[in-house]
Amino acid sequence: MTRQPHASAPLPTDDAFVARLLPWFDGHGRHDLPWQHPRAPYRVWLSEIMLQQTQVVTVIPYFLKFLQVFPTLPDLAAASNDAVMAQWAGLGYYARARNLHAAAQRCVELHGGELPRDFDALHALPGIGRSTAGAILSQAWNDRFAILDGNVKRVLTRYHGIDGFPGLPAVEKVLWALADAHVQCVPGARLADYTQAQMDLGATVCTRSRPACVICPLQHDCVARRDGRADQLPTAKPSKTLPEREATALLLRDAHGRILLQKRPDTGIWAQLWTLPQADSGSALQDWFDAHIDGSLEDAEPLPVLQHTFSHYRLHLQVLVRRVHGLRVEDPGLRWADTDALATLGLPAPIRKLLDSGAPPRAAKRRTMRGAASPNDSE
Ligand code: ADE
Ligand code: SF4
Repeated sequence: MTRQPHASAPLPTDDAFVARLLPWFDGHGRHDLPWQHPRAPYRVWLSEIMLQQTQVVTVIPYFLKFLQVFPTLPDLAAASNDAVMAQWAGLGYYARARNLHAAAQRCVELHGGELPRDFDALHALPGIGRSTAGAILSQAWNDRFAILDGNVKRVLTRYHGIDGFPGLPAVEKVLWALADAHVQCVPGARLADYTQAQMDLGATVCTRSRPACVICPLQHDCVARRDGRADQLPTAKPSKTLPEREATALLLRDAHGRILLQKRPDTGIWAQLWTLPQADSGSALQDWFDAHIDGSLEDAEPLPVLQHTFSHYRLHLQVLVRRVHGLRVEDPGLRWADTDALATLGLPAPIRKLLDSGAPPRAAKRRTMRGAASPNDSE
């Protein structure tokens, strides 16, 4: 294949990562992306900004149309903000378009209407971070700069077996050092290809879930592959530890097997949904019970504690099951619901799950296993 000048020649570098990636790119990488023909600075820049949060297939038509309307960087700089935003409409993350426009204007003011080839000057423009600056310089000019976008972070953490969330500065520093070390080993004419190769490998082979290690050009040197840890790397973002809260809810049934529901207030969690009567403390719940319910909470059966995570805390909900006689008072915020009514009401998902899939049978089973059925809440 004409595209594989290095395939059968001795490896051009003793960095196996680079040496294996480039021939793979020649045979299996993407060579027909519109920003590759030609790889001109303005086109590369535009593509890198559009690709920051958006997939290639989505970007391509926007990229082509944008270039028709603004064929050169000075055209973009001279356009109105409305005209730029109109071309961006639908791509999302609109700060990208505002930064792009502002950067084009700054290039006209400071750099003669061209994208600067100097790393620091490029990096100083709005919307161009370290990795994007490297991607632009390497692709547009074959300059020797590393990139470290999400794809490359994934490939490097796996290939080198780097633990720790890649968004942490300490981990990112290690990854940049590795990316810089590799890029030093790339043959001079191939820096643009090398940048594209890393993105292509991450997008098509070393994918987020189920990487295709068996066809990966890096499989023989990859630490994650060797250790069977590809699915554990990169390390997931540490989940922030949420405050824990406890509450108790009542699953009360009447003689017909109907379940008592209570409407949540207009604000707060589960606002306006029907759910089980609930309180933050057992004593508050007991008081509520005594005021509203004809029956007793004695011998109520505890279900396994239900856990539900809200955005700002984790709830541990203890549900108590009990058969009761009825209500002491009419209350528009309370209703008995049979199976049909349950299906039509808006219930919080975890409560819906509990009622649909099994609280009653589970409670029954537990009783059976203990060998002593409670007379109070049999189904
Ligand atoms: N994402 C960012 N830059 C890219 C490129 N040049 N090709 C494919 N995906 C990318
Ligand atoms: Fe990614 Fe698997 Fe290739 Fe390693 S061998 S770089 S985990 S695809």
